[in-house]
Amino acid sequence: MRHPLIIGNWKLNGNKHMVNHLITALRNKLSNIIGCDVAIAPPMIYLDKAKYNLADSRIALCAQNVDLHVSGAFTGEISANMLKDIGVKYIIIGHFERRSYHKESNQDIADKFAIIKNEGLIPVLCIGESKAENDAHQTEAVCASQLDAVLNRIGAKAFENSVIAYEPLWAISTGKSANPFQAQTVHKFIRDYLVLHDNTVAEQVIIQYGGSVNAGNAAAFFTQPDIDGALVGGASLNADVFAAIVKAAVQAKQKLALASCCL
Ligand code: 13P
Repeated sequence: MRHPLIIGNWKLNGNKHMVNHLITALRNKLSNIIGCDVAIAPPMIYLDKAKYNLADSRIALCAQNVDLHVSGAFTGEISANMLKDIGVKYIIIGHFERRSYHKESNQDIADKFAIIKNEGLIPVLCIGESKAENDAHQTEAVCASQLDAVLNRIGAKAFENSVIAYEPLWAISTGKSANPFQAQTVHKFIRDYLVLHDNTVAEQVIIQYGGSVNAGNAAAFFTQPDIDGALVGGASLNADVFAAIVKAAVQAKQKLALASCCL
């Protein structure tokens, strides 16, 4: 059975005070949680401080981006080995906001995936369709082409111990999440697409949902068999709400496990 994974993507939010305050609150609220992996992705400049504040906790550290290069004359960039050096475990790549505002291509993202794997870190590969693509019933074709970029670059085995986050663009920061049943259909498609390449890898890969997840709708997503947690944006900035989402994941997966053992 896959462990759910909840990651809080703080995006461009926070300051030193918030890092102290939010992490202290999360440590208190999540100290007894088992059965769910949790990570937070503060802005790059606060990662080192966050690592210090997270010492001896089960909450892992995630970066929101990484450069395409490992070292050299690339002013302003941060490499995967630097992130590893300060204790980062996960790195988000292919987020819609980077594909859109920073013009990152599928090829760039596949290269980043390869670099992250080379460093022994865990990529969180975001994929998903726009509203127009959704309306045109192109969701599966878009997800397949985003997966193909990585599959063609480094093969299906690269998805071993990796994370995929299905984030339909139209659900990000809009307050209008996907319908959990429709999201499940896409997650199943993603897993089945990987099954065509490697059954074992497909069965173990974590596929998160992202897009307007909150404390009220989280359980409906996590009770779907192929939704293995969430990449949470806005709701991760509030410790009570983020903790409630983590607890919903634990309870939903316990329910699913119980249901499957009684079949
Ligand atoms: P929201 O949860 O704010 O919609 O953001 C989702 C997201 O983009 C997480 O990476």
